[in-house]
Amino acid sequence: MALRNIVVEGDDILRKKCREVTEIDDRIRTILDDMLETMRAYNGVGIAAPQVGIMRRMFMIEVEEGDVIELINPEILEMRGSVWEDEGCLSVPGLIGTVERPEYIKIKGLDRFGNEVIHEAEGFKAVAFCHENDHLDGILYIDKAKDIRDADEE
Ligand code: CO
Repeated sequence: MALRNIVVEGDDILRKKCREVTEIDDRIRTILDDMLETMRAYNGVGIAAPQVGIMRRMFMIEVEEGDVIELINPEILEMRGSVWEDEGCLSVPGLIGTVERPEYIKIKGLDRFGNEVIHEAEGFKAVAFCHENDHLDGILYIDKAKDIRDADEE
């Protein structure tokens, strides 16, 4: 595994729509391994491929330590409810903001072996899925947040 550089806000890379992964091969799995290492090195709870400069539709979340969920070509199937939660982003260092998200989400995608998987999540895990999925369409949480502020002040 290798640490990758995190693309930060202001770079056009974060504003582009990512393309589908057409073949899940060792190259893709290596990128996922690197994303995990990078996410953990910066104490993130999620990371999307464009954040390491890879314009492909895949991300991972690790809301509970050790519970890593990788999703390739994700597709949201259902969303319900509404919650306002504080979010931060490895690509927007030093800030947090409050964002409205669904309280329940059902999302499908492929795992690193190409198997279709479906996840249901509530609360902060649902928030994390939505946040990372937005990255694949060039959307950052700061586009939707109210009360963006320094993380240090918390
Ligand atoms: Co982010």
